[in-house]
Amino acid sequence: MNFHVLTLFPDMIVNGLNHSIIGRAIDNKILQINTINIRDYADNKHMKVDDYPYGGGAGLVMQARPVCAAYDDLVSTLQKKPRVVYMTPVGYTFTQEMAQEFAKEEELVILCGHYEGIDERALERIVTDYVSIGDYVLTGGELPAMIMIDVIARLLPGVLHNGESAQTESFENDLLEYPQYTRPEVFEGVSVPKVLLSGHHANVDEWRLKQSIERTKKYRPDLYNKYMERRG
Ligand code: ADE
Repeated sequence: MNFHVLTLFPDMIVNGLNHSIIGRAIDNKILQINTINIRDYADNKHMKVDDYPYGGGAGLVMQARPVCAAYDDLVSTLQKKPRVVYMTPVGYTFTQEMAQEFAKEEELVILCGHYEGIDERALERIVTDYVSIGDYVLTGGELPAMIMIDVIARLLPGVLHNGESAQTESFENDLLEYPQYTRPEVFEGVSVPKVLLSGHHANVDEWRLKQSIERTKKYRPDLYNKYMERRG
């Protein structure tokens, strides 16, 4: 899968994702992260890509022209019109389910705004999906883009190896993950729950499910209600 990130801070994206599991997947050519610096499409000698908002107000707005020029240049290299995700607090909240949908795309364009956002006319022309990572405001779309890429990338075949399963985990079946333990058996006087040492798989599964349900009920009553409704 190819991620194309339109941004003013390409180094942030490249440096942030070139590690650990995603770094390995890039080395193994399972995914590629292509960054396009919007500033390269400025049409003035100061390489300025933002200006004051019409109607007044604080901050600067990224101009439509360089954003659209960067996009047009990118699209001219692709076989078909890609989905273009704009990272913004004014969007649908990103979920595991959305990640599964995006993971089906061969090419995915992610547009990162900075400052007070991007001229609406550029967004109307190129954006297909408006996505927020949560109810808080960041200084730009780069960290949200990295989060989205990380979540999507780990769903791609071959990205997780054995023992890094994408199956049994939080949000699967609307439940949060159960607690995990590793050696030593006793740490600072606290023992690993006995059932996990029993070798009895059915009992282990039952214990884990119970833990998942309890944690979901405590931390995410919204998910818990969904889970209970689905169970009927
Ligand atoms: N840009 C700034 N805040 C954001 C958020 N919460 N989600 C996505 N993009 C953003």
